[in-house]
Amino acid sequence: KHSQVPQASGFDSTLSFLREGYDFISNRCDDLGTDGFETRVMLRSVLCLRGESAVSLFYGQDLFTRKGAMPPSTLRLLQDKGSVQSLDGEAHRHRKRMFSQLLVGTPPDRMVSLFERHWRKAEEIWIANGETELFSASNLVLTHAAWEWGGLPADTMDIDDLCDQLVGMVENAGRIGPRMWRELARRAALERRLERLIVQLRKGEIKAADDAPVSFITRWIDSDGNELSAKVAAVELINLLRPIVAIGRWILFSAMALHRYPQWQIRIAAGADEWIEPFVEEVRRTYPFFPVIGGRALRPFSWGGKRFDSGQWVMLDLFSTNRDARIYPDPLAIHPERAPSWRDQDFRFMPQGAGDLRKDHRCPGEWLTVSIMSSAIRLLTRDMRYQVDDQNLDMPMNRLPTRPKGGLRIRLADHTI
Ligand code: HEM
Repeated sequence: KHSQVPQASGFDSTLSFLREGYDFISNRCDDLGTDGFETRVMLRSVLCLRGESAVSLFYGQDLFTRKGAMPPSTLRLLQDKGSVQSLDGEAHRHRKRMFSQLLVGTPPDRMVSLFERHWRKAEEIWIANGETELFSASNLVLTHAAWEWGGLPADTMDIDDLCDQLVGMVENAGRIGPRMWRELARRAALERRLERLIVQLRKGEIKAADDAPVSFITRWIDSDGNELSAKVAAVELINLLRPIVAIGRWILFSAMALHRYPQWQIRIAAGADEWIEPFVEEVRRTYPFFPVIGGRALRPFSWGGKRFDSGQWVMLDLFSTNRDARIYPDPLAIHPERAPSWRDQDFRFMPQGAGDLRKDHRCPGEWLTVSIMSSAIRLLTRDMRYQVDDQNLDMPMNRLPTRPKGGLRIRLADHTI
């Protein structure tokens, strides 16, 4: 009798995963006619899942820990030990409140206006140069804005270096080998630097505004009744800065989408504000960022009529779940009319995780992300005149995370002439 959870062919799928990247899980699900299969990756048994009911298993029940669920180097590069993502249960929920209060407790207006100010300043340079590459340009704007938003004194950080380090963490998260080790060493150095700044802040040797995120983190009382150690406070500060800068990738994709859908570019340029957020959400749904989320079961569970033990490793396919034709007909096309939204907190739309952000590991940064992307779209369509010359915008699907290798080159005209 056939199991309802088929086994993928071959003893171990590590090489296929590296070769197929974003498409690895969906290729096999399509072939096997299923939403879940078992295989081995790095010789470890893994249950690979996609689709709405898999998402509701994965999120919302405190069933999966992120510990031991990603290659250790990826985890350390993106989140590191002691971070909110490495916690479970009550300790997680408590620490998560720190992020929710900062990121969804009030609208992200301050971050957006800092972003716009730094964008307009940079725009003058882009115009003077006649052209720019939008991915690296956005990253730098975001780093300036994020550092100012965070609240540590401007003269305590070299922003170009910081940008390089934060971008490197994301660009190299899917790598193995020497590049990854170099990246881990750079991350460790940044952590130590921020740790020292936090110690100085606590001693009153440097100042930050009372309502600045860095002050909030530094004062936060954790679930054990104590302030965070300087080391963990630094890790969580990086957990704000790194993903804000990562929005640069979504800005790149937004500009690519505007280029691909000139009718939307024109409509939004003409003032259709109500379509900006739905357009942004469709960009987040269709373009590739996080391929999968890994979890390890904290308790036994069932899937497809089969029982799995506590400790079972699961990989949930974010990318293909967002492009599920059963939920989104014509799934690869951008149709802002369908307007999926992070506000729904359900299990169908998961560019940055799914479910209830207070209870599970869903990303707390979605409101901020969508707001910054919306602002970038307003700036691109209404504030700037630019042309996109012919260039290679292919995205290799086995690079994690992927993007066009050369970003997006744009040619600018001074709109005041
Ligand atoms: C968690 C994606 C932006 C802070 C996550 C998760 C994903 C994600 C997939 C993991 C969910 C899980 O483990 O189940 C993204 C993407 C972003 C982004 C693609 C676009 C740039 C942000 C921003 C912030 C942020 C702007 C904060 C300023 C976090 C934190 C977590 C997280 C702190 C850990 C939450 C937890 O474990 O409870 N994000 N995120 N992210 N994100 Fe984001």
